[in-house]
Amino acid sequence: MSVKPDLRDLFGAVRDDLAGVDAQVRAAAEVDYPLLAAVVNDIVGAGGKRMRPSLMLLLARAFDHDPERVITAAAASELLHIAGLVHDDLIDQADTRRGAPTLNSMFNDGTVILLGDYLFAQAARTAARTGSTRVMDIFGRILAEITDGQLREIFKAHDVEQTIDDYERRIYGKTASLFAGSAEIAAVLCEVPEEQIQAARQYATDLGIAFQIVDDVLDIRETSETLGKPAGSDLRQGTVTLPMLYFIGNGHDPDSVALVRRAIVGGDISEAEYDAAIGELRESDVLRKSLDEAIRYVERAKAALDILPPSEARDTLRALADFAVERHR
Ligand code: IPE
Ligand code: IPE
Ligand code: MG
Ligand code: MG
Repeated sequence: MSVKPDLRDLFGAVRDDLAGVDAQVRAAAEVDYPLLAAVVNDIVGAGGKRMRPSLMLLLARAFDHDPERVITAAAASELLHIAGLVHDDLIDQADTRRGAPTLNSMFNDGTVILLGDYLFAQAARTAARTGSTRVMDIFGRILAEITDGQLREIFKAHDVEQTIDDYERRIYGKTASLFAGSAEIAAVLCEVPEEQIQAARQYATDLGIAFQIVDDVLDIRETSETLGKPAGSDLRQGTVTLPMLYFIGNGHDPDSVALVRRAIVGGDISEAEYDAAIGELRESDVLRKSLDEAIRYVERAKAALDILPPSEARDTLRALADFAVERHR
């Protein structure tokens, strides 16, 4: 695998286009109420990695196409992502995001739901400015799939009997669908043959799955400080992730497995027990095994780009896929 790529180098190729995306995101995310506006501004301004817009802009470059409409669509995608985070943090009761306090830590649930809806609506209006009904259709599909993934997460919470297939379906919905749809939108706007649209979609789907597997590893391995969002929250919420499935699967000490299973089921579990269960996961081989699985997805993602014409942007898209996993270092 390649050395850890620097995100700034990766995105350098599309830096100006990204500035255009940011301007549209900021304009669309403007709200009238001073208190709320400051917090919204923080979330938008605090950056985030801009993975989805970058992927779209790099695809436009790889297809050698004028990026203007893709810039607008990338703004729509980032707005949809931010709206999703606003609702996700309320659902997860997270107190920080991108290193700053979440909206739900400062405002009541009703306000947060409405603000999320507002951002979803602004995302849709931005997408509509592309003038493409297919883009609008993909946009609707993404929203339905994210919602489906998050509902699956809620209904499968605390369930120790779920399978790796259940997990994959869930993370496709909650995370990979936005990557996939964003890539498809970019390719559609570049008016490339259907085969290349589907290749772009496949690339982004696999990248998105790898990205969420790594997010789930980091949730176990890192601290809230390094993540800028709460660590260890998946287990505490009963969200069963790949490392946990590997751990309770087989090959581990029965007492440790019993502890992790109890933590997943939840109920009368002390903080010390959650910490102990997370310690078991950290010290075992399951984080490594999960990263290996993520790498397999990344390799598949990169291979999907084979049918695109060779270009620097295509190489950068491959490096972006590596970054999805390499960011764990
Ligand atoms: C967070 O996405 C939600 C997940 C899908 C794990 P990112 O990790 O891309 O968040 P930002 O945009 O960089 O803050
Ligand atoms: C994110 O999943 C999925 C979304 C649709 C936002 P997580 O709940 O794992 O994301 P983080 O860890 O809060 O960023
Ligand atoms: Mg969350
Ligand atoms: Mg997470």
